[in-house]
Amino acid sequence: MLLKEQIEAQIPEWRERVKKLIKEDGAVKVGEVNIGQVYGGMRDVKGLVTDISYVDPSEGIRFRGYTIPELLEKLPKPEGSEMPYAGGLYFLLLVGNIPTKEEALEVEKEWKARGQVPQYAFDILIAAPADTHPMTLFSMAILALQRESIFTDQYHHGLKKDAYWEPTLEDSLNLTAKLPAIASFIYRMRYKGGEIIQSDPNLDWGADFAHMMGVTDPGYQDLSRLYFLLHSDHESGNVSAHATHLVGSALSDIYYAASAGMNGLAGPLHGLANQECLGWLLDVFNKYGHVPGKEELHQFARDTLSSGKVIPGYGHAVLRKTDPRFTAQHQFGMRHFPEDDIFKLAALVYEVVPRVLQEQGKAKDPWPNVDAISGALQYHYGVREFDFYTVMFGVSRILGVSANLVWARALGQPIERPKSLTTAMLEEIAAKATAS
Ligand SMILES: CC(C)(COP(=O)(O)OP(=O)(O)OC[C@H]1O[C@@H](n2cnc3c(N)ncnc32)[C@H](O)[C@@H]1OP(=O)(O)O)[C@@H](O)C(=O)NCCC(=O)NCCS
Repeated sequence: MLLKEQIEAQIPEWRERVKKLIKEDGAVKVGEVNIGQVYGGMRDVKGLVTDISYVDPSEGIRFRGYTIPELLEKLPKPEGSEMPYAGGLYFLLLVGNIPTKEEALEVEKEWKARGQVPQYAFDILIAAPADTHPMTLFSMAILALQRESIFTDQYHHGLKKDAYWEPTLEDSLNLTAKLPAIASFIYRMRYKGGEIIQSDPNLDWGADFAHMMGVTDPGYQDLSRLYFLLHSDHESGNVSAHATHLVGSALSDIYYAASAGMNGLAGPLHGLANQECLGWLLDVFNKYGHVPGKEELHQFARDTLSSGKVIPGYGHAVLRKTDPRFTAQHQFGMRHFPEDDIFKLAALVYEVVPRVLQEQGKAKDPWPNVDAISGALQYHYGVREFDFYTVMFGVSRILGVSANLVWARALGQPIERPKSLTTAMLEEIAAKATAS
């Protein structure tokens, strides 16, 4: 497999590089931690390493050094499509180079060969109570597949540490291959009377998801490819990435680790923001019965703020400009359905809300993030079941977190074990600092 060979070829150099850095410069400080951060969710504490993506405050996310516009231009695409193969993106995340079309197609082919979901995983979903949240179902299906783990099997038969990454790559390909079928099964079971659509062997991973969802508009295939690219990775400190890494650091396999990551993604402060954002847009639309004018929208936004709520989809913990993931989706909507009401409204919000937030003066970043528009695009294609949106986010995010786990194993990253203090100890540290 080209993918595996290329990772293998890089590993010795990476191991040497990391070993040298730790040996020669292990004591060099990268930052300090204050009491506010200890109590404040470790915000901005530099305590993780990943070479797969980096969020630049002024530019937004880069995957393996490439910006979103660069990726959309350079990654190989299916004939006649605007958006790249997810297989090419996965190759990039794992290997670090822009793949050739042949390399991208090889990943797609691997996924096809590994995509069959065992019936027992579906049976578990069918057996769950009808009101089980789609994210719970998604996480359950991933966890159910844990018995397939090649890593865990080989580990118990005496796998050498140097080789941990190999079965982790196998597990990652096996799991990611099945995600479109699992997610669309949940969608069709929950919202479409259980009429399941079988995979089309001629379609790539992203387009096959669109097909199995039952959305017939060909534009949805490209939107799916775009969506899966944009949400795949966002450094390693966000909850889904960090939870996956943490659980994986105990040498739990990717099924255990990704299921944990998905449980974090299900939280309202993480993966649910996109549905809140669409909800806000629909509130605006329903209040006026049409796309309002700028003045009315300005007022609506001010009313949201004065009622103590945030404007969903705006602001970011790290970024200080329009999120390029927003821009890519905005451009997609402009090309495909500029006259769609909810899309038009989302675009108008972009013209109005940053000014309202600047006037209020609290948000450090008044610009839109990825969530400000993604729901509006799904809505256009008739995927209007909000609870399902996080599942799509999860399908995409597992590409990033599994690529990270392969490399964590390749570089022998240890179990995570930060140190805790008591509040009394922090008070003592504070008292000493004040006295000196
Ligand atoms: C994304 C977000 C959680 C980042 O949080 P953060 O790093 O703490 O943001 P800031 O440092 O800019 O926050 C400073 C203040 O501005 C407020 N603020 C930030 N974004 C805001 C928004 N979109 N609407 C209203 N107020 C906002 C914060 O609530 C905070 O208020 P406080 O001092 O009263 O607590 C925040 O911008 C937010 O809540 N946005 C809306 C929800 C959203 O889009 N989430 C998806 C994120 S990808």
